[in-house]
Amino acid sequence: MENLNTKIEEIIILGIETSCDETSVAVVKNGKYLLSNIIASQMEFHQKYGGVVPEIASRKHMEFIMITCKEALNKAGLKINDIDAITVVSGPGLKGSLLVGLSFAKAIAFALAKPLIGVNHIEGHIYANFLNQHNIKAPFISLIVSGGHTSLILVNRVGEYEVIGRTRDDAAGEVFDKIAKYLGYHYPGGPIIEKLAETGKSDAIDFPRPLLNSKDFDFSFSGLKTSVIYFIMKERDNGNQVHINDVCASFQKAIIDILKYKTFAAARYYNISTILLGGGVAANEKLRREFIENKPNENYKICYPPKELCTDNAAMVASAGYFKMKQGITDSYNLEVFTK
Ligand code: KG4
Ligand code: ZN
Repeated sequence: MENLNTKIEEIIILGIETSCDETSVAVVKNGKYLLSNIIASQMEFHQKYGGVVPEIASRKHMEFIMITCKEALNKAGLKINDIDAITVVSGPGLKGSLLVGLSFAKAIAFALAKPLIGVNHIEGHIYANFLNQHNIKAPFISLIVSGGHTSLILVNRVGEYEVIGRTRDDAAGEVFDKIAKYLGYHYPGGPIIEKLAETGKSDAIDFPRPLLNSKDFDFSFSGLKTSVIYFIMKERDNGNQVHINDVCASFQKAIIDILKYKTFAAARYYNISTILLGGGVAANEKLRREFIENKPNENYKICYPPKELCTDNAAMVASAGYFKMKQGITDSYNLEVFTK
């Protein structure tokens, strides 16, 4: 017989992410159970320009947002009235793109008279981990590595974030993208470099590992990027055949070494043994494997989301919003977007 004293709370969140070039809407139950996660990519519209064109991005979000939302609800088997709260990325990102998502979120929240919760895009990447790991407890350190960010974030409790390290120049994903572009490949460069690296020798070229001995937890990748590009240029100028697979494998090893070294150093300094990876670069198989294989000791818990939840998506936004809501954090209709 059902125990009437046990009330199982069920909170259904609609997540919306439009910070860059992907229109995504997701439905998540209790911050952990993914009911749907629809992503409408705009990649084909930007590729010929060699990067994301902000004006095109916001227009495409306008075109895609309604249909993406309907599809997310359909896939979850729910109606809009079943939604308990709306969470949306309010920044950082492209202003016009963010405004489409935020205005859409405000309209739904207003029409349904349900809470509105603004989520930082990076916060979303952290909480992507909660969608497949159900027993993560703060405190933890999160390494967010994407096309726009490389940050180490100390999380003592939900909603309290301390950035303890960040890149001083390029983001890790940006370097993958720029090297791939130099080699003549299109965006996103990360998966392409990873594929090329599979058949290369990671000890073929000794690329630099900048800031490894700095006393802080900051990163710097632009020197590494320059030395990879100069190496290829010089070899070609000298008429030597460049073994691109070896270059990719050696570069990838250098960047993973830096990320591992700084993250584990921060973990030791703050005496924290739970590490959450997130962001597009965390989809890199070699990076995932090396963090597990090289963790300082068996007490360390290394978490990462499934690959499809490492890159931008709305499910991570719904999850982050749920945990904020549980802490009583909601926003008013004055919520604004921010770009940085
Ligand atoms: O998180 P994300 O989708 O967007 C941003 O917030 O920037 O990350 C995109 C970045 C791109 O730079 C892309 O090249 C990189 O993540 N990326 C990868 C891999 N998959 C995506 N980098 C390395 N290896 C991968 N497998
Ligand atoms: Zn992202």
